[in-house]
Amino acid sequence: MSLLDGTEPGADGVRALVQRAVELRSGAAPRQFPGRSVGAVFFNPSLRTRTSLEAACARLGAHPICIHPGTDAWAWEMTSGAVMDGATAEHIDEAVPVLASYVDVLAVRSFARLTDAAEDRADPVLAGFVARSKVPVVNLESAMWHPLQGLADTATWSEKLGPDLTGRRLVLTWAPHPRALPAAVPNQVLLSAALMGMDVTVAHPEGFDLDPDVVARASALAAAGGGGVTVRHDREALADAEVVVAKSWSGFSGYADRDGEARRRAGLASWRVDAADLPASAGFMHCLPVRRNVVVADAVLDGPGSWVQLEAAYRLWTAAAVLESLLGDGW
Ligand code: CP
Repeated sequence: MSLLDGTEPGADGVRALVQRAVELRSGAAPRQFPGRSVGAVFFNPSLRTRTSLEAACARLGAHPICIHPGTDAWAWEMTSGAVMDGATAEHIDEAVPVLASYVDVLAVRSFARLTDAAEDRADPVLAGFVARSKVPVVNLESAMWHPLQGLADTATWSEKLGPDLTGRRLVLTWAPHPRALPAAVPNQVLLSAALMGMDVTVAHPEGFDLDPDVVARASALAAAGGGGVTVRHDREALADAEVVVAKSWSGFSGYADRDGEARRRAGLASWRVDAADLPASAGFMHCLPVRRNVVVADAVLDGPGSWVQLEAAYRLWTAAAVLESLLGDGW
């Protein structure tokens, strides 16, 4: 039992995890797991994911062990058959089984490299952990998915819009950014909202498309749950949104020409989310960290419709709910 893209518990299982996160946030006593350990390997930086995981372990009486290969642990080699005469000193073939022999849950963060679409789609580091671990694996953001973020987002939607999210109007909007960013978060927003049967509009400029396989999968999930997915290349849907989720991402078709994409991105500053873009009643969300006044204007981020702090706060409680299940009796 692992948490890789957030759909593993099923729609009802996700609702149960969200309900448990709400209970924990309201003061319910967490289950206790003294003597149990959660290992977390971070190949990329983190503020929220790492600290919420550690804090969740503290609430559950479990012990978190976070390592950062190449910084406070040996640098890892991922390639089978590599002649390791360079900077890497530890092979994933040894490292994952070793860690899995010490801990009860193993978690990993490894972002997309954005150079090879097939490689990113295969999510090689996450898959490498799953293939070599005898204990459950939790994805802390991989090339494709960020399921703990998706659970926190779902908890936020549920608190603000009500537990039945069927047909509720969510707009996932592309936003400007100085760099090409992975699509794990927008993929996850789309998949998590679809799993809840929401009415999702993905708004992005031409060329900044999400992976068509992800859109097709989300469309089928949403339809099965009473919702739908629409893709647009304008921002008109923001005006009718109940919740707007903003994120920058690099286009799936951009794998073929990142330099050209960068030139196009430089001319898209007008996709910044401003207060006039969304109704006063709409919520605004972003996974954080966020580039103020590039992705979104201060007036939105600091305004009464901003749900970003609640969204971040739910990272702790949804992580605790997931660990209760993985260390306990499952979904
Ligand atoms: N949203 C999120 O995953 O934040 P971190 O990158 O700080 O963990």
